[in-house]
Amino acid sequence: MSRKSILAFNKSLVRLLPSSSHPIPIWTVLLSGPSTFRVHESHSHRKCYSQNHSSKFNYSSEHENASGESWNKSGIFGAFTGLTLAAYVAWRKSEQNGVHAATVRMESEEIKKDLPTYKSSEVAIWVTFKRGVYDVTEFVEKHPGGSRIMMAAGASLEPFWELYPVHQRPDVFQILAKYRIGNLSEEDVLEQQQPAEDHFKNEPKRHPVLKQRSLKPFNGETPPSILAEQFYTPNDVFYVRNHLPVPQVDVKSYCLEIEGISIKSSSLRLDDVKKFPKVTIAATIQCGGNRRSDMSKAKPSAGLAWSGGAIGNAKWTGASLKDILKKAGFDPKKYPHPEKVHVQFEGLDSDQSGECYGASIPLTYFLDENFEPVLAYEMNDKSIPIDHGFPLRVILPGIVGARSVKWLSRIIISNQESQSLWQQRDYKVFSPSVTMESVDFNSAPAIMDTPVTSYICSHEDGQVVAQGNIKMQGYAFSGGGRGIVRVEISKNRGNTWEVATIKHKAPSAARNWAWVMWEAEVAVNKQDKEIWVKAVDTGYNQQPEDFKNVWNYRGLVSTAYHKITLNVK
Ligand code: MTE
Repeated sequence: MSRKSILAFNKSLVRLLPSSSHPIPIWTVLLSGPSTFRVHESHSHRKCYSQNHSSKFNYSSEHENASGESWNKSGIFGAFTGLTLAAYVAWRKSEQNGVHAATVRMESEEIKKDLPTYKSSEVAIWVTFKRGVYDVTEFVEKHPGGSRIMMAAGASLEPFWELYPVHQRPDVFQILAKYRIGNLSEEDVLEQQQPAEDHFKNEPKRHPVLKQRSLKPFNGETPPSILAEQFYTPNDVFYVRNHLPVPQVDVKSYCLEIEGISIKSSSLRLDDVKKFPKVTIAATIQCGGNRRSDMSKAKPSAGLAWSGGAIGNAKWTGASLKDILKKAGFDPKKYPHPEKVHVQFEGLDSDQSGECYGASIPLTYFLDENFEPVLAYEMNDKSIPIDHGFPLRVILPGIVGARSVKWLSRIIISNQESQSLWQQRDYKVFSPSVTMESVDFNSAPAIMDTPVTSYICSHEDGQVVAQGNIKMQGYAFSGGGRGIVRVEISKNRGNTWEVATIKHKAPSAARNWAWVMWEAEVAVNKQDKEIWVKAVDTGYNQQPEDFKNVWNYRGLVSTAYHKITLNVK
């Protein structure tokens, strides 16, 4: 069964429920065949994309799974369960209507000669928005949020866009406009104008200095001028990147579940995690979209308009993730095909359909003795703030911030990656010629280690400065534990370069998980308008000069030189 049809099928269950009242009919179809899509219940109220595991799994079944066979079996199982459920719902409905269940089943097996015939690809998915009715069938496969759009199938997009307000943008409205097929009746327009539930009513207070990039969910960056002041970014001004409402967590009932292939399932309270030896690492967390607004100057890209402040450096203290997993019997060397095994993480934050934030990294990271993942409960020597994952988050140093899951609820050793949209679609980089319309999400891997970057924090583009010596400051960072060899400044478009002083570096470790802070005295006079900065990492990787050939439509891993123009008086 194709992804679309199983979703359409799920919707058909909704339509059979006596209480459902959809203003627009959704046409549904039941097909047979293996599925490639599945969700399973977790934490009773949440559905999470993940491999379904239990301690009963042994490695041989995992090995089978890696070839996809068991996955297909589970798809068939899912479809079977769905059919059973459909039959049950139909039976309940028919009981109410006084119709025998067998009649209902027979009806769906018959060809109705008086009705037209459709191909499954023609089954329509309609949504409404304000006064418009849209057939988004063709758009579903391209939707960066994947199947989530199906939550609105047969209904209004508005309540869902309350939860994902990033959609409320002119470019998204333009895309939607292409799919308009009609007008919504006046009666339904009025009904939809009722005030929507606020999913964000329990958000924590934020420091007013954070530059807000979206309110719901909250996303705010540290002003770069503050970033340059301290090696460890203070907690209350550390950038916040939330995709969903902040979850309400009761630490008394909080439990971290660990499960998956070749390990014992276990459940740990926060106090249990705190009994493990305490470890601390200095690590920089950087959003994949940091510096997107720089990239968008070359050509507009889609996403929050971060400048250079979607990055921060902190001391993360907690238990070593390797110790915790070892206690559950995890030994990365025991897997004959470690490249086919993934460590998945799930957060407690979820959307209206119950789907939680999730990410994963390949098990091969755990084969590296110097990789130091932490289950952090402290950030800069204080209890981790709610916005940053209280009571527990995973810190995966050197890896793009999206994988360091906050409000951690489950860790799963699996034969597949996290199936969350943030792993499968959102944080991937495509070739400069790929557009939102042409993207094939399977053609690129999820971002893991990030490339070298640098930023001028002390001065803004267009800033007025007096002729003479100016002190410039900023950061430089490279993913994968690579350190920074050198930071260089040019005031004449690359004709000559001055080497900046590395002011602050983490105490030496096997790997460099933290950024460096740099400073330089630059003598400027009236003709020195453009200032460029670039860094070189320990792999001798250098930043590209401009964004032209590294541009990607999602504006991710913005790695080109940082360039500002000064107004020298
Ligand atoms: N974890 C959960 N549960 N939910 C999220 O929305 N955002 C991710 C990651 N972990 C996220 C999450 C992203 S995209 C980034 S960049 C970092 O958290 C940001 O961490 P911070 O908000 O503590 O700075």
